[in-house]
Amino acid sequence: MVIGASGAIGSAIIRILLTSSATQRLFALSRRSIEIHDPRVTALHVDLEEEASLAAAAAACQIEGGLDLILNTTGILHEGEAIRPEKGLRELDPETMARLFRINSIGPALVMKHFSPLLARDRRAIMASLSARVGSISDNKAGGWYSYRASKAALNQLIRTASVELAARRPQVVCVGLHPGTVRSAMSEPFLQRYTKNEIFEPETAASSLLTVLRNLTPAQTGRIFAWDGKEIQP
Ligand SMILES: NC(=O)c1ccc[n+]([C@@H]2O[C@H](COP(=O)([O-])OP(=O)(O)OC[C@H]3O[C@@H](n4cnc5c(N)ncnc54)[C@H](OP(=O)(O)O)[C@@H]3O)[C@@H](O)[C@H]2O)c1
Repeated sequence: MVIGASGAIGSAIIRILLTSSATQRLFALSRRSIEIHDPRVTALHVDLEEEASLAAAAAACQIEGGLDLILNTTGILHEGEAIRPEKGLRELDPETMARLFRINSIGPALVMKHFSPLLARDRRAIMASLSARVGSISDNKAGGWYSYRASKAALNQLIRTASVELAARRPQVVCVGLHPGTVRSAMSEPFLQRYTKNEIFEPETAASSLLTVLRNLTPAQTGRIFAWDGKEIQP
């Protein structure tokens, strides 16, 4: 299952998964409608700000044997003219902060709430959410981007907390956060001029790296945050 199937990284993950014959079924969940012409794909609508849509999708995704992978690729950094990452304290706006927390922290937590029961019980199964390196508190040297940083730090804590609960009942579950690197997408586009060409990943490259990281994870690594290169990011 990929949530955020309309996004740059989410759609690239789906394209790669569909090249494999090991992918027997794929649930592609998104807010914006998408078109994928493949008999293995079931596309469903979800909006992370509407919990009922997550409950309805979860009810529609029950399959025998359970899911091997649930990957949430949703997120928000800016939106039109109204929401921009803050450069300083005086730019903080409670509504903007609440919106980023709703989409980047609370939404992914509700994804774990509604979809983790769908994970396979008899083998390793992965619940992963795209986080961001800037959510690391110990790594924060540059400052700025208050709401995005804080909402991703909260997400990391929610992933860790869910991992503890899931490990107690489901020892084969791997519940992790992932940092995809700097990836060309609608989200990153206004900020890419700060980077050299070599520092920017195309969505396909990032998606392929993330799938390799996921493939190699073991239940002993649950609760942690990993970058695209497999290296752990400290909280
Ligand atoms: N790109 C980077 O450099 C970078 C770096 C670090 C971390 N990340 C993280 O990677 C993830 C994916 O980012 P991306 O670069 O692929 O960005 P993107 O192309 O802008 O994709 C964002 C996705 O989130 C979805 N979304 C936003 N709000 C939603 C909601 N309320 N309900 C359902 N879906 C919602 C969007 O859906 P719609 O199509 O409906 O808008 C879209 O599919 C994010 O978590 C981001 O924080 C990205």
